[in-house]
Amino acid sequence: MQANESRAFTSLRIGPLTLRNRFIKSATNEGSARGGTATKRLVQFHEAIAAGGVGMTTVAYCAVAPDGRTFIDQVTLDAAQVPHLKVVTDAVHRHGAGAAAQITHGGCFTFVPPVETARPLSASGGFNKVGVLSGQWRRQAMTVADMERVAGEFVRGARLAREAGFDAVEIHMGHGYLLSQFLSPLYNRRSDAYGGDVRGRARFPVQVLERVLEAVGREMAVVCKISVTEGTRGGNTAADGAEIAKLLEAAGAHLLVLSAGLNIESITTMFGSSFPKELRGQVSNPIVAMAMFIQRFTEPKNVQFHELYQLENSRKTRAATKMPLAYLGGVKSLANVGQIMDEGFDAIALGRVLIHQADLVDAFATGRVLESGCTSCNRCVAMMYTPGGTSCVLGTPGDATLNATPAAA
Ligand SMILES: Cc1cc2nc3c(=O)[nH]c(=O)nc-3n(C[C@H](O)[C@H](O)[C@H](O)COP(=O)(O)O)c2cc1C
Ligand code: SF4
Repeated sequence: MQANESRAFTSLRIGPLTLRNRFIKSATNEGSARGGTATKRLVQFHEAIAAGGVGMTTVAYCAVAPDGRTFIDQVTLDAAQVPHLKVVTDAVHRHGAGAAAQITHGGCFTFVPPVETARPLSASGGFNKVGVLSGQWRRQAMTVADMERVAGEFVRGARLAREAGFDAVEIHMGHGYLLSQFLSPLYNRRSDAYGGDVRGRARFPVQVLERVLEAVGREMAVVCKISVTEGTRGGNTAADGAEIAKLLEAAGAHLLVLSAGLNIESITTMFGSSFPKELRGQVSNPIVAMAMFIQRFTEPKNVQFHELYQLENSRKTRAATKMPLAYLGGVKSLANVGQIMDEGFDAIALGRVLIHQADLVDAFATGRVLESGCTSCNRCVAMMYTPGGTSCVLGTPGDATLNATPAAA
């Protein structure tokens, strides 16, 4: 193994947490939280990845409040979830890996009727594109009181995650969810202190980060996931992404995970390639179906996958900051890992390749595998809402019985 590749297997400190190596399983919605409850299949999914050698695995898409859900079958952080999630974190810890909970609020990206408000919340009011399918045609601009409440929900979510044994929380600020709606000029048209230039648009996300850091930052790593570019006309560019990263660095974030794109407007940017045409007809989940439908009109056709497809955009954030950064997007081989280390990133986040092969990190370490067999076909995205949950179409589907059984049952 080359020296730059070996560095990926050395420990990494992020805030109060030390990881055994620099590989982080990126959050990929597991489709394993029926009615909001973590299932035994969620335990199995993360246990396999922890046993397979990562430094930390991330439980995807945990809503901080009922109002913050995008859909019903999504982990919802409340006291009743703690025993179920504790089974997940215990299983991960048994194999020496860390566990992160991605904490999120969907804002207007929701298919669940709002609980606290008449309309789904967002940075600004007006027409809600997602409402085309959910019937919630209009979104509601958040007041300062709403922001105070939602920041409190993130704090409560982080504290519950800690109670459930998580070592880190990853605040989701990318992909078009609530905090990303504040950051994005496409969604944020505010004329008060929470809108305008990058600093104004980042004000609320930064406040959420500060509140979470204050509440749990001494005991847990506090990570932010951002879209370094939104990859669509009128959206944040890589230069804006670097500015956002600087603000999060100044606020004290322990690590940034550098993603890209928005669910509705630029999902190709997120995945680095188009979705196969035939997949559109097979997708039963409304979120994915709609993203694919809109993609037909808004996205470049037939974008071909290439390795490290976010490198150019992420380099700008690397150059602008000194803080720990995790590169994400199209890491396929041990050589890619070495290059990411050479480029000065601190960690490597992996999504699809670990869905394809849970023990890829160990396989890289021993030289058993030098390049992932994942074909980057994106078909696992359509598997998210199948009875067995997210899995690679080249492997064995998830166990539907485990996926219907609460983790602590
Ligand atoms: C099936 C699937 C589900 C995903 N769900 C989430 C999610 O819940 N939260 C998130 O931040 N990103 C999600 N992503 C995006 C990944 O975290 C990652 O950004 C993307 O797969 C690109 O990384 P990769 O090239 O290593 O796969 C998902 C990706 C896949 C394939
Ligand atoms: S379904 Fe396709 S993209 Fe997803 S893990 Fe399998 S090979 Fe990779």
